[in-house]
Amino acid sequence: MGLRIVMLGAPGAGKGTQAVRIAQRLQVPHISTGDIFRAHLKEGTEIGREVQQYLDAGRLVPDELTCTIVADRLQDPDCRNGYVLDGFPRSLPQAEALTKLLEERGGRIDMAININVPDEEIVERLTARRSCSECGKIFNMKFSPSANGDRCDAPGCHGMLERRTDDAEDTIRERLRVYHETTEPIIGYYDNQGILRTVPAAQTGPDGVFKKVEELLESAGAA
Ligand code: AP5
Ligand code: MG
Repeated sequence: MGLRIVMLGAPGAGKGTQAVRIAQRLQVPHISTGDIFRAHLKEGTEIGREVQQYLDAGRLVPDELTCTIVADRLQDPDCRNGYVLDGFPRSLPQAEALTKLLEERGGRIDMAININVPDEEIVERLTARRSCSECGKIFNMKFSPSANGDRCDAPGCHGMLERRTDDAEDTIRERLRVYHETTEPIIGYYDNQGILRTVPAAQTGPDGVFKKVEELLESAGAA
């Protein structure tokens, strides 16, 4: 069994950026609840219609719906050798539901990686974020622009880069508020279980942060 990892950190801390690299390194799926919700929105599904108001406002989608979606996804065969959860859990009830679900299935989370970035830096990162409308690759106009201007530079892609609608400054502030109020307490939850690993990521680029993450994976005997 490979590692089951949870990514913690404020909106824009770089959870997605690091989760993609970890998933590639460990050859396990990257599961982002935010990406799942945005895919539903794009496809106009019933779930999409249900979650739109929450994403637009920067508020959390209700725990019950979120937990059901994750519980389903974790049943997929590709999750058997571990996974990287990105953006879930983000409330105490979600964290407790995940522990219970895994216990019932005879497993547990092995490591919670908390990417720590101060709020001021977050706003700077998120207002400059762009992502590919085709493959989802994450860019930053300031810190990691695409080699192809406003098009994706991933091999064989060339999709248009777009800005997430929740990356407007007011919505970013609301997401940060919700993070500090509802999500931050779960850092203590994983610390109490002895599996919290905090990565200081202020003024450190994605490569520098990944070096620190790799050390954690190595210490767990996984990379
Ligand atoms: P979600 O998609 O999870 O958004 P988020 O938590 O706000 O996090 P982000 O994706 O904005 O940031 P990130 O940490 O992934 O950073 P990234 O790597 O992109 O959730 C969206 C919404 O869905 C929520 O608001 C909620 O409504 C709903 N939702 C999702 N999960 C839910 C749940 N469990 N329960 C309830 N509701 C849920 O990096 C950001 C930018 O910085 C990029 O431009 C990147 O290139 C750049 N960057 C990354 N690392 C660095 C670095 N080291 N230095 C400089 N720049 C960097
Ligand atoms: Mg993300």
